[in-house]
Amino acid sequence: MEEPSADSATGTASEQDILAVTDRRTGQQYELPITDDTIQAMDLRGIKVNEGDFGMMPFDPGLSNTAVCRSSVCFIDGEQGILEYSGYRIEELAEHCSYMEVCYLVLNRELPNAEQLAEFEAEVRADMVMPESVMRLQNAMDPDLHPMSMLQTSLAALAGEYPEAAEVLEPEVRRQHTMRLIAMTPVIAALGFRFRTGAGPIDIRPELSYSENFLHMMLTPTGEEPNVAPAMVKAMDALLVLHADHEQNCSTNAVRAVGSSQVNPYSAVTAGAAALHGPLHGGANQKVLEMLESIEDLADVPAFLESCQSGDKRLMGFGHRVYKNYDPRAKVIGKLAGDVVDVAGPNRMLEIAQALEKTAIEDDYFTKRKLFPNVDFYSGMIYSAMGFCPRSFTVFFAVGRMVGWLAHWEEMMADVNNRIVRPRQIYTGYPRRDFVPMDQR
Ligand code: SDX
Repeated sequence: MEEPSADSATGTASEQDILAVTDRRTGQQYELPITDDTIQAMDLRGIKVNEGDFGMMPFDPGLSNTAVCRSSVCFIDGEQGILEYSGYRIEELAEHCSYMEVCYLVLNRELPNAEQLAEFEAEVRADMVMPESVMRLQNAMDPDLHPMSMLQTSLAALAGEYPEAAEVLEPEVRRQHTMRLIAMTPVIAALGFRFRTGAGPIDIRPELSYSENFLHMMLTPTGEEPNVAPAMVKAMDALLVLHADHEQNCSTNAVRAVGSSQVNPYSAVTAGAAALHGPLHGGANQKVLEMLESIEDLADVPAFLESCQSGDKRLMGFGHRVYKNYDPRAKVIGKLAGDVVDVAGPNRMLEIAQALEKTAIEDDYFTKRKLFPNVDFYSGMIYSAMGFCPRSFTVFFAVGRMVGWLAHWEEMMADVNNRIVRPRQIYTGYPRRDFVPMDQR
């Protein structure tokens, strides 16, 4: 893995880069250095009314305007609707690269040459196994368990299988278990799918690509030869590319925060999977399908959108904390959905989705709030056309995002300035009061 360059670890402020503020409570003036168009939150602590005061803090509950790290993995311009992995536009990566190429890029910040890619794929393929103990654990679960709960449990259990992964300060240990997680996650996801659907065991096939093996392990009947449609493999590979990373989203932030305690990577990515499961985050792709299934007819679209404007319903798959324009991934996935449906035949849900999009982007409730389709709006359509049920969709998101979680985890662990995440609060509880014994309560 590439170590961050020294100058990327700490910005530098020139003489002019100063924020001059006056605290009118005291008339005091302060000069706060500006680096990378940010001020250091700790510099605010010097702003006090009385010498013994704790000092000032920024208040930013959803971290909407707080940079928590420096990162070279991914760049988003929310106003322009731009997403780049290490400088390469997502549209070009989705069209020209395999998911394995993009995994190499996300982890190393460079696209691999043919030899590097072959070596990377061989190491991943060699690790595409499921430890017996995790297999027994997964097969002991209730088949009706939500697939994301099953995935979280299995990921966490891997920490027990590889106790040496706790040596997180060793770069080679981090690299080895990063590769293991990229390799094992689709196996865990696929075998969980087979367990829930009552299909028998199956093995990966060394001659197949990563995405082909992923689909083969889910769809090939036991004992039969793999026969996955190339269009499905291409669509799955592109979806994994499009989901690979997205800077400091909720689940990646969870991985960084949990990983900052120096816990093993299996526990850190389990926290990421737990965050991703939420309907406001990765769970939205499942909710979009449930939303589309609830709209009986195209004629019901205007009334549904009105219920979103009144707050009764939420237009799932729309809106984004960062994108105030089209999510570039939604454009690529929307076209992919059209291609897949062209092959699979007319699809009522796609027609409803396209009608929702067309109506919403012309309605000032949505345009005023800059609400556009996000990555989750069309992705479920494709998974559904592949024959998967909505409860599996977020697991596919997790398979793609695993490499992003691990790239950010590595970037954090390799950062000599890394510290445990421990935010502060504004206390709103009781002031100190005398203890009340039981017989007086
Ligand atoms: C992902 O962060 C990432 O990068 C995430 C992700 C990734 O790759 O990791 O891109 C993946 O999680 C995509 C988002 C998937 N979630 C959904 O599709 C769920 C529906 N969307 C929303 O719940 C919402 O838009 C969020 C959660 C995505 C963003 O929430 P914010 O930034 O906190 O915005 P908000 O809830 O404060 O909304 C601002 C306004 C509100 O109206 P007002 O109070 O101003 O009147 O917009 C409204 C909201 O009611 N609004 C919506 C809406 N989303 C926001 N109204 C109807 N439908 C929606 N979807």
